[in-house]
Amino acid sequence: MTTTAQLAGHTQGGEPLRRDMTRIALAKPYWDAECEKAAVSALSSGRWVKGPQARAFGEEFANWCGAISAVPCQSGSAALWAAMRLLDIGPGDEVIVPGMTFIATATAVSLVGATPVFADIEDEYWCICPDDVESKITSKTKAVIGVHIFGQPFSPRLRTICDSHGISLIEDAAQAHGALLEGKMAGAIGDIACFSFFPSKNMAVGGEGGMVTTTRPELAERLKRLVDHGRDDTLESVELGTNLRMSEVNAAVGRVQLKHIDSWVSKRRENSDELNHSTKIRENSQHAWHQLCILSDEPTSVISYFDSKGIDARVHYPIPCNRHQVYSEHFQHENSLPNCDLIAHKLVAIPVHPSLSGEELQRIKDALHHSTF
Ligand SMILES: Cc1ncc(COP(=O)(O)O)c(C=O)c1O
Repeated sequence: MTTTAQLAGHTQGGEPLRRDMTRIALAKPYWDAECEKAAVSALSSGRWVKGPQARAFGEEFANWCGAISAVPCQSGSAALWAAMRLLDIGPGDEVIVPGMTFIATATAVSLVGATPVFADIEDEYWCICPDDVESKITSKTKAVIGVHIFGQPFSPRLRTICDSHGISLIEDAAQAHGALLEGKMAGAIGDIACFSFFPSKNMAVGGEGGMVTTTRPELAERLKRLVDHGRDDTLESVELGTNLRMSEVNAAVGRVQLKHIDSWVSKRRENSDELNHSTKIRENSQHAWHQLCILSDEPTSVISYFDSKGIDARVHYPIPCNRHQVYSEHFQHENSLPNCDLIAHKLVAIPVHPSLSGEELQRIKDALHHSTF
């Protein structure tokens, strides 16, 4: 972590930083006495796995977002893998994913032997483009993974398109705890939704973690089995699964954080309003503001400018997924997804998290106000 002393003297393109100014990070994991007590209590119970904390966390999370069932697991990536297995997706199948997202959205498909088919993003909202999705549906398409990118809910048309083609809709809600689309929370929009509790996310669990939710009653039982070697109540493995279980300590911390999530997301919304962002928000939806991004033709200068003010900023997904080396053999590796190619490297995220103090928010506002981009 950069210290105050290291920061003093940063002068690139601006006033020297004052010695008492601390760096403003893009994310600040929350930790308080209640989280600590919950973690210690789970540890001292001696029940470190497969206990009451994970069970309760799943139930409370499902209740909170309006899903039928939710099962905690080890990461957002594990949640996506479980979603693939739950829908029996494998070799010969295709799953449509956005070209601009964290790579795990696509690799989850590849890891089960299926083919991710990359669709372009919308120019206004940066989520997967429904028209492009529709044009890429074939007889092999089993599902679409829509990502609520940066916390912006994906288009409601995805639901209609999937229903009309008889395919499943998976939400990659890793960045969207608390987002709302047409009255439904992220987690209750698709057939299955996958959340991440990576420390920078809207809520976390004091380590790695994820959650899979479903709105389909017939998937709920299987979901519980999948994260535990596909075993049923008699401990017989009835289908292929593995150990994706969340530890009791992480679940206990997650339960405390879940109590704060609504107020944290409200604070993210207030902060984004304060920062007078220009992001267009989809109609009938509420953004969860995991990231607030500035679209700039000069992303490197924007990052240096914020750096000179002691504010972290970064481009999260400069390379569209199809162009990553891991997809060098993919049929779309050299293809252009025009909006992805145009936009992905230009989206600079700046801090919007709920732990920003009034003074820090003001510093970001001032930086934006005095900027020339
Ligand atoms: C959109 C998206 N999908 C999936 C993931 C994977 O989550 P995890 O890091 O918990 O495996 C992330 C996390 O960064 C993400 O942002």
